[in-house]
Amino acid sequence: SERTYIMIKPDGVQRGLVGEIIKRFEQKGFKLVAMKLWAPPREFMENHYADLSSKGFFAGLIEYMVSGPVCSMVWEGAGAVAAGRVMLGATKPSDSATGSIRGDFCIEVGRNICHGSDTVENANKEIELWFPDGVTEWDSCQKAWIYE
Ligand code: GTP
Ligand code: MG
Repeated sequence: SERTYIMIKPDGVQRGLVGEIIKRFEQKGFKLVAMKLWAPPREFMENHYADLSSKGFFAGLIEYMVSGPVCSMVWEGAGAVAAGRVMLGATKPSDSATGSIRGDFCIEVGRNICHGSDTVENANKEIELWFPDGVTEWDSCQKAWIYE
C-alpha cells in the first residue's frame, strides 16, 4: 500500500500541534507505520531539501528546520501521498484552504508547520532517507471498515 513521509516542523512541535496533526491522519483512516522525534544535523536537512538549494530562501529554510526537533512520520494507505498534500494544504498559508492543517494553524510560508511528500517517487526516497532501518508493518483491525 502507498506510503508518504509527513514531518511536523520545529514550529509545529513548539506550538504543541503534534497531537492535532497525528489525530487528523489517524481519523482519515491512514495507518502510522513509523515515527520519531529528533533534531537531525544540518547536513541531513540540507539533503532532504536539496532540490531547493538554489532558492533565495534556502538558508533561511535550513535555519528554520534545524531550530528545534521535528516529528518524522510515515503514514500508509490508498492515495496517501496526494491525500496528505491536501490535508496539509497549499505551501503558502494565505492560499491554504480552511480545514487544512496550514489553513487552520499558520500564517507565513516560512513557518508552515508541516512537510509532506509531493510524489510517490519522492515519498519512497524520503522514507528511505528518514527511516533507513525501514518501517513497522502491522495489521490494523479497522481495515475492513475503511476499505471496501
Ligand atoms: P514541503 O512539504 O515543506 O516540502 O513544502 P511544499 O512541498 O509545499 O513546498 P516546497 O517543497 O516548494 O518548499 C519547501 C518549504 O520551503 C516550504 O514548505 C516552505 O517552508 C519553504 N518555502 C517555500 N517557498 C518559500 C518562500 O517563497 N519563502 C520562504 N521563506 N520559504 C519558502
Ligand atoms: Mg516540497
